[in-house]
Amino acid sequence: MTGRNKWLIAITLVATWWSVTLVAGVQAVKEGVDDSLVVTEAESPESIARKKAEAHADTMDQPEFGWDPLAIIGSKHDLSALNKRAGAKAMEGVAYDDYGYACVYCHVPPDVGKKSDGPQQIAGWNRIRSDMRDYTLYSSRTFKSTARIPNEITLLCLSCHDGTMAVDQVVNTPRAWKSGEKMTLHMKINSGTDLDHCGLCHDGFTAHDLGNRHIGTDMRRNHPVSIRYPGLGAGASDSLQMAFNSPVDDFGFANGVRLFDGFVECASCHNVHEPSKVKFLRVKPEYLCITCHSY
Ligand code: HEC
Ligand code: HEC
Ligand code: HEC
Ligand code: HEC
Ligand code: HEC
Repeated sequence: MTGRNKWLIAITLVATWWSVTLVAGVQAVKEGVDDSLVVTEAESPESIARKKAEAHADTMDQPEFGWDPLAIIGSKHDLSALNKRAGAKAMEGVAYDDYGYACVYCHVPPDVGKKSDGPQQIAGWNRIRSDMRDYTLYSSRTFKSTARIPNEITLLCLSCHDGTMAVDQVVNTPRAWKSGEKMTLHMKINSGTDLDHCGLCHDGFTAHDLGNRHIGTDMRRNHPVSIRYPGLGAGASDSLQMAFNSPVDDFGFANGVRLFDGFVECASCHNVHEPSKVKFLRVKPEYLCITCHSY
């Protein structure tokens, strides 16, 4: 073979290899496009719910204490997912309306615009106030503070946990949700066994008993809430102040136990946004009480 022929063969081989890889590359790009189309078509309710939650989170302030707002997805407070997780569509379209993503059961959806708070709305939240005429507020012989009508953030919890209102009783539903889609019984967290109450199935036989999660309207049975924290000084007697530790500021303790503008609320001890913690308790039960009480 002459030197010139060797070169021709070499060039032809390189050219062939190059065109083959080029064609393969174009093919791969095409397949790539097709793949992503397929993924979009098969988008699951879960991935749509996550996208909506992410979009909602983007409109809000970041939490100050470092927890992830999206961690609530898939937890007991993610009512959009309970339906599926319960299996066999146990609760779907029966117990409550599925608004498509978790946040809207508590937070006002970003797409409702600037509607002013209605008279029955819990200010700042997407929920209706419970009727306080039904309430018995906290009292005891030793209790020094004055129990008053609960503050907004505690009213939020009570709007589901006092068992008088349906879990899906929100002020604004997200725009994309069509009210004609689902007809449900709008059930309440309550051990009652009629069509009004989750206890219909959650009786400990058909499904787990949810009686413990029913706080009720008699607040004397619980730790006092919506009380000013005496450990902040101002307004409390010396002896009462002595019985409490000093927080960092009006917003709580270094270990994560929170005060809300100087007040003790349900959310002082619980953070629904930290579902990995037992009963959503901000600190382990053995440290919880001694964070505040100095016995
Ligand atoms: C069961 C009620 C509930 C649900 C459902 C819920 N949140 Fe919250 N969220 C709260 C409470 C209570 C606080 C205040 C907690 C605190 O400040 O420690 C809060 C605080 C926040 C904050 C901190 C900023 C702020 O405005 O206080 C962000 C961000 C947030 N939530 C995002 C979300 C997103 C996103 C979702 C849905 C994926 C969601 N939340 C679902 C109850 C809820
Ligand atoms: C965030 C702070 C805080 C935490 C955490 C806390 N407490 Fe309290 N607790 C208070 C305040 C404030 C009072 C009201 C004191 C008063 O005015 O008499 C109170 C009152 C009480 C009372 C009622 C006293 C009475 O006179 O009726 C009991 C009982 C009690 N706490 C037990 C506990 C237990 C048990 C824990 C742990 C599970 C706990 N507390 C965790 C702040 C706290
Ligand atoms: C939209 C309704 C709703 C609101 C608002 C709500 N919860 Fe819940 N909560 C639920 C449901 C549903 C469950 C699960 C009940 C069950 O497992 O049977 C639950 C369960 C719990 C539990 C028990 C968790 C466990 O692991 O046993 C705690 C504690 C709790 N919630 C605290 C709170 C606090 C504190 C607030 C207010 C910041 C709040 N919840 C607001 C619906 C709500
Ligand atoms: C038609 C029967 C039925 C009704 C009504 C019903 N549930 Fe359920 N639920 C089930 C079944 C079945 C399961 C799965 C078994 C279990 O967890 O005990 C379940 C599971 C759950 C779970 C656990 C899901 C998980 O994976 O963590 C929660 C929380 C829950 N239900 C809350 C509620 C609430 C709140 C109501 C009322 C608004 C309600 N359910 C009404 C049948 C029902
Ligand atoms: C001082 C701290 C503290 C405050 C304030 C507080 N809790 Fe709790 N909560 C606890 C502790 C501790 C437990 C766990 C008790 C147990 O497991 O026996 C608990 C348990 C619960 C449970 C679950 C019961 C169960 O057995 O599954 C619910 C629901 C709940 N709390 C809701 C609330 C609501 C709503 C408020 C406000 C009205 C509130 N909590 C105020 C400390 C607190």
